[in-house]
Amino acid sequence: MSILITGGAGFIGTHTCVELLNKGEDLVVVDNFYNSNPQAIKNVKKITGKELKFYEANILDRGSLVKIFEENNIESVIHFAGLKAVGESVQKPIEYYTNNISGSLVLFDVMKQFNCKKVVFSSSATVYGNPEKCPITEDMPLSTTNPYGTSKLYIEQILRDIYVSDKEWGIVLLRYFNPIGAHTSGLIGEVPSGIPNNIMPYISKVASKKLEKVNVFGDDYNTPDGTGVRDYIHVVDLALGHLNALDKIRKEQNGSFTYNLGTGKGYSVLDLIKTFERVNNVEVPYEITDRRPGDIATCYSDPTKAEKEIGFKTVKNLEDMCRDTWNFEQNL
Ligand code: UFG
Repeated sequence: MSILITGGAGFIGTHTCVELLNKGEDLVVVDNFYNSNPQAIKNVKKITGKELKFYEANILDRGSLVKIFEENNIESVIHFAGLKAVGESVQKPIEYYTNNISGSLVLFDVMKQFNCKKVVFSSSATVYGNPEKCPITEDMPLSTTNPYGTSKLYIEQILRDIYVSDKEWGIVLLRYFNPIGAHTSGLIGEVPSGIPNNIMPYISKVASKKLEKVNVFGDDYNTPDGTGVRDYIHVVDLALGHLNALDKIRKEQNGSFTYNLGTGKGYSVLDLIKTFERVNNVEVPYEITDRRPGDIATCYSDPTKAEKEIGFKTVKNLEDMCRDTWNFEQNL
């Protein structure tokens, strides 16, 4: 029996594969390398000393998915595959809806065809839109402000509807807060193409002098130092959360469950820059610029439900996240 990992060559996918392989699971990975590369899969094998079965394919290609299910005994799926850049999604809504929503529909339909009814889905805190309060609990209202977020929200709804139609499904929706950091080996991490949009990869490029300075998007928010506050979570902690989620639907019960994966702590952009400089003994020049349209002041999770129901608790702190990111950057 194998677990199928869609998008398994990506940032969160590779870290999840490592933890699953370390636990002795059999993995089948499908990825089209749109935003990743074959070396990432090689490095997963190198870190773990284990093999996995890999298919290069797009999940929109039904024929490829059917072949994967025919050739393997897939008992559950962890679904990461999708486009993920917020800004780009505003420019390319058709691509985002097609890849994320249609791709997911093809996947779920093929799962149904092969009677595979366990899925963990990679959702995002972006589905909370501009939250009315923090910390954010899973029952708070959902809304989105861009096609990327809307695609996540729709896929969540599709999965909830699938469960309503067939109570044999076991579904976990994981709402990630801000994943950063890298594997301690320095072999896998986040490799954004072009100039990074997200803060941590940007800081990393400035520290290594590939970019001149960090543009801090606004210091007039209603936060302790005026810069945006987020719930940064180490990608290895986040990866381990998928194992907890899978355990729940494998051992315990069918159902549709939703969990925040975050630390419950908020840090500002300046906290992040200062911590990165301190723990790595590097300089990260920055400049305060205008706010980025669409950004919110504060976003952090209430992680209580995940701890109570699936025993998920983060162990790595902001210093670990900064140290591991820098270690990875220096290995590039
Ligand atoms: N920021 C800067 N300068 C930069 C980039 C970001 O100051 O160059 C600031 C932002 O204004 C924000 C914080 O750093 O206050 C974090 O920004 P990111 O772009 O790293 O992350 P976001 O919180 O905007 O978005 C992330 C993911 C989304 C996901 C969302 C969920 O990128 O995919 O978290 O909350 F939907």
